[in-house]
Amino acid sequence: MEGSRLRGLLSNLLVQQWRSRAHGVDSLMPEGAGLSVDPARTPITCYAQICQNFCVGNTARSGAVSNRGENGIMRDGSSRPLAVVTGASSGIGFELAKQFAQNGFDLLIVSQSERITEAARSLESLGANIETVQADLADYDGVEQLYETIRSSGRSVDSIAINAGVGVGGDFARDTELESELNLIRLNVTSPVHLTKRVVKDMLQQGHGRILFTSSIAGTMPAPFEAVYGASKAFLTSFAQAIRNELNDTGVTVTALMPGATETDFFHRAGLDDTKLGVSEKDDPAEVAREGFEALMAGKDHVVAGSFKNKLQAAAGHMMPDTTVAQFHRKQSEPGSANK
Ligand SMILES: NC(=O)c1ccc[n+]([C@@H]2O[C@H](COP(=O)([O-])OP(=O)(O)OC[C@H]3O[C@@H](n4cnc5c(N)ncnc54)[C@H](OP(=O)(O)O)[C@@H]3O)[C@@H](O)[C@H]2O)c1
Repeated sequence: MEGSRLRGLLSNLLVQQWRSRAHGVDSLMPEGAGLSVDPARTPITCYAQICQNFCVGNTARSGAVSNRGENGIMRDGSSRPLAVVTGASSGIGFELAKQFAQNGFDLLIVSQSERITEAARSLESLGANIETVQADLADYDGVEQLYETIRSSGRSVDSIAINAGVGVGGDFARDTELESELNLIRLNVTSPVHLTKRVVKDMLQQGHGRILFTSSIAGTMPAPFEAVYGASKAFLTSFAQAIRNELNDTGVTVTALMPGATETDFFHRAGLDDTKLGVSEKDDPAEVAREGFEALMAGKDHVVAGSFKNKLQAAAGHMMPDTTVAQFHRKQSEPGSANK
């Protein structure tokens, strides 16, 4: 009795949440720019999906992972939906993977280095079944290797977070290496297009799927001293919004996660340690990931995650002249600016 009352309350809460989220997103959308919570699906079918994830999540957290009968069982025996997360060995990707695991998903996690095994070990303690792929996603064959692993698992992908990415800081004409920038383009631009092309066809066939791209507020403005990085994120945001529109009414949603400066390995790897950006106070990757996960589950088109400052910067990037925001970015990212 207690249990069914609790389930009833949870149901009402989730339906209310779904409605307010759906309408909240709807009211922000220009006319005709479809809401990614598929309007062809009733609130109840969407609610069922949300409920399945959250209820299974609760079961998993209590350590009692069980299957829900023949219909829900995957080929490997797990009844939990599957999420793929690229760049999950550290930072935002690791925290995204944690969100999926805590909310009842099994995981296929990917990165280039051996750190992915360590990440899997720590995620397993959250009750998820974890498979790892160590692959260089800047390489065509690396993406194909990942897709082959997905296919051979025999499981359908409920959600994919296309998150792996790198930055390159420095003066484009006088400082940075062409090979680093071409590698950045292969990882941040080419591989998301390649991987999406493969995965989205399966999602269309199954009539359901969620795609999250980790873009950046850097994509809303020209980014001097991160010129190629900023351009790569502008590409990703535009690509996400365009295919989202193409996928209207299919059951497949696309969400762009747009963090600002976040406390991860990113700045050190990009050679930005001596910049204002590099030494600035940054957002918590766990908080950024939580906002990204919730936006994905709610089917939002994008979320500017983290501090209020990020929301202001993203708005300025859209409203102010490019020359002005470029100059603003320069002050943050110019080599040596940390001490100015
Ligand atoms: N941190 C920020 O301020 C910030 C702001 C906005 C957007 N972002 C975006 O957030 C995403 C995650 O970055 P992060 O900040 O979390 O930095 P991070 O901690 O350095 O994470 C980068 C992830 O990408 C993986 N990776 C790098 N090169 C790879 C390759 N060639 N093939 C496969 N995986 C590769 C790394 O794995 P291994 O090193 O283990 O291979 C790691 O898991 C990136 O797309 C970044 O552009 C970051």
